[in-house]
Amino acid sequence: MKTGLLQFRPVLAEPEQNIERVGELLAPLDFDLIVLPELSNSGYFFRSAEELDRSAEDIGGGMFVNSLREIAQRKGSYIVSGVCERSGGRFYNTSVLIHPNGRMDVYRKIHLFDTEKKWFTPGDKPPGVFEVKGSFGNVLIGMMICFDWFFPETARTLALQGAQIICHPSNLVLSYCQKAMYARAVENRVFTVTANRTGTELCGDNSLTFTGQSVMVSPKGEYLISMNEFDEGSALVEIDPQTALDKNVTAGNNLFKDRRSELYKL
Ligand code: ACM
Repeated sequence: MKTGLLQFRPVLAEPEQNIERVGELLAPLDFDLIVLPELSNSGYFFRSAEELDRSAEDIGGGMFVNSLREIAQRKGSYIVSGVCERSGGRFYNTSVLIHPNGRMDVYRKIHLFDTEKKWFTPGDKPPGVFEVKGSFGNVLIGMMICFDWFFPETARTLALQGAQIICHPSNLVLSYCQKAMYARAVENRVFTVTANRTGTELCGDNSLTFTGQSVMVSPKGEYLISMNEFDEGSALVEIDPQTALDKNVTAGNNLFKDRRSELYKL
């Protein structure tokens, strides 16, 4: 299964410009599944409610998601992307899994980071898994968004439901997530695909610099993709997602069977 990620620099509050850039970057690629960063349509560091409103879309019929649908359909591929969503007068930091037949699965970020709490309503549904199908077989995909990584329960919840690939659209500003995702992959024996953005955004006297360095890690702790801090670009690797179904760590240890949930206070 040819799987990977796109690292790019969304322009704040310019969804048309952002879909044009995504289209350009995806056009030459041949993939089964690709992951784009968090809030790919809108950028991140909103300066006003008006700017957020102008950047957001109804994911059922919005321009950005519809354009991704067309790309997925044309290529016969799956696309995961972060989207700034407007629904019922609220805003959500959302990830969509777009199928080549136009179907869409949705996850809304449950752990909002810092100033996101000012703009977004947190998701109220547990992270779930979704099936994708192709010449590569039937594969279960989970989605989590950026700061969700800080709560290992998120990835574990997905792994316990059978997720083989965890797609992780991100806008990372702290320096250690990319390393932590190594642990999320190994401790759950899943593939993780962290698609981060690059660039700097300004809001008054404050600025945020996004750390790039998008990573994809295998269940056995191999870095399959490591991007640099600054550049836009993509990377794809051929994987066998069925290897994520093997939860035996040693001949005497099974990741799920050895859990002592009766002793945990979670
Ligand atoms: C983040 O959750 N965007 C840091």
